[in-house]
Amino acid sequence: MTSFWDGVGNLFLTNPGADAEVVLTGSHLDTVPVGGNYDGAAGIVCGLAAIIQMKPMWEKLRRRLALVVWRGEESATFKALCTGSQAAFGLCDPAILSRRFRGRTLEEAIRRQGFDPDFIAQRRPSLDPEKKEKISSHVELHIEQAKRLETDGISIGVVSSIRGTVRLRIEVIGEANHSGGTPMGIKYRRDANLAMAYMQVTMHEACIHALERGMDLVQTVGLVNDDGDFNRADSPLRANSLTKVSPYGTFSVDIRSDNEAFLGEYIAEITEIIQTKARRYNVGVKISEILRQRPVENLDRGIRSAIEASCRDLEVSHVEMPSGAFHDSAVLAGIRKSGGETIPVGMIFIPCRKGISHNPAEYVDPEDLVRGALVLSNTLHRLAR
Ligand code: HGY
Ligand code: MN
Ligand code: MN
Repeated sequence: MTSFWDGVGNLFLTNPGADAEVVLTGSHLDTVPVGGNYDGAAGIVCGLAAIIQMKPMWEKLRRRLALVVWRGEESATFKALCTGSQAAFGLCDPAILSRRFRGRTLEEAIRRQGFDPDFIAQRRPSLDPEKKEKISSHVELHIEQAKRLETDGISIGVVSSIRGTVRLRIEVIGEANHSGGTPMGIKYRRDANLAMAYMQVTMHEACIHALERGMDLVQTVGLVNDDGDFNRADSPLRANSLTKVSPYGTFSVDIRSDNEAFLGEYIAEITEIIQTKARRYNVGVKISEILRQRPVENLDRGIRSAIEASCRDLEVSHVEMPSGAFHDSAVLAGIRKSGGETIPVGMIFIPCRKGISHNPAEYVDPEDLVRGALVLSNTLHRLAR
């Protein structure tokens, strides 16, 4: 297979052949801080195995096959997401380049890897546009990152939708004071940490009420008093101390749903909660949107049928299911080629042990990797012949 890197470090491996259309499979190879070994990587390994397994058929196929290794899918560390696949199509907000993680900007991190952040700075696609025109479909194998397949004893998930996400940063401004001398009560204390705690608990109650109304929703406070760049000399977080009423606090919230309209309403609801608690506890508050990604409410039905047909061919149990996690596939599902047509995108889920992910305990039984690679190979064959 021939390989090339695009401008920001996405890697592409393609089988030889005339300049035909390309069926793409792949995923990401990066993970989260203290993450697991299968989120993303399973899709790369199974994708490579599937393409190599098809070697005897390469010449007979109408389309070429390619593996793509997307970079920076987990760039939440830089308050971004799917940086590699978005940069490939010129979709990144240049502002992410100055975001810092543990003392280094994203721009510095990309340069350190020997690639060129100017593609993002100038919103230039890092993948040559004529290569985009050649992509006929994109199929990503990924671990489920939940435990529906394992619990129901089903081998393959045929993904129907991908939840959208809205990520907010809330900053709370209180007033430093002596923890021993200052009496309790908002007349004397403007306690950022205390106000944040009430905000988070009340937001959680709002989430539970929305679920009870039957809405699709998950809400996660991942970072509290950690803005990812702790050692920054001027970080306001440095003003907190064991013996001080907290003058400053910050927390993140990641809100996801497969229903875009509801997502908008819900953000308004929790914004109201945050402001009400700020008044109640006599603190200032600043809510900033880190990023927002629309849900993919329907992945390509043709590819879903191809995956289902492959499962039937291989007598592998399968079920149609939504993806709670976001993926590079969701970025590709929104890409339009010059003629206006979108790139058909599909995803194959394989079970991961106890549904655990974003955790070193992440694990996939080799049997499930093999089954996934065989279903992927069969699907790619259907899409490339
Ligand atoms: O955030 C996600 O859903 C993915 O892990 N990047
Ligand atoms: Mn992930
Ligand atoms: Mn992933």
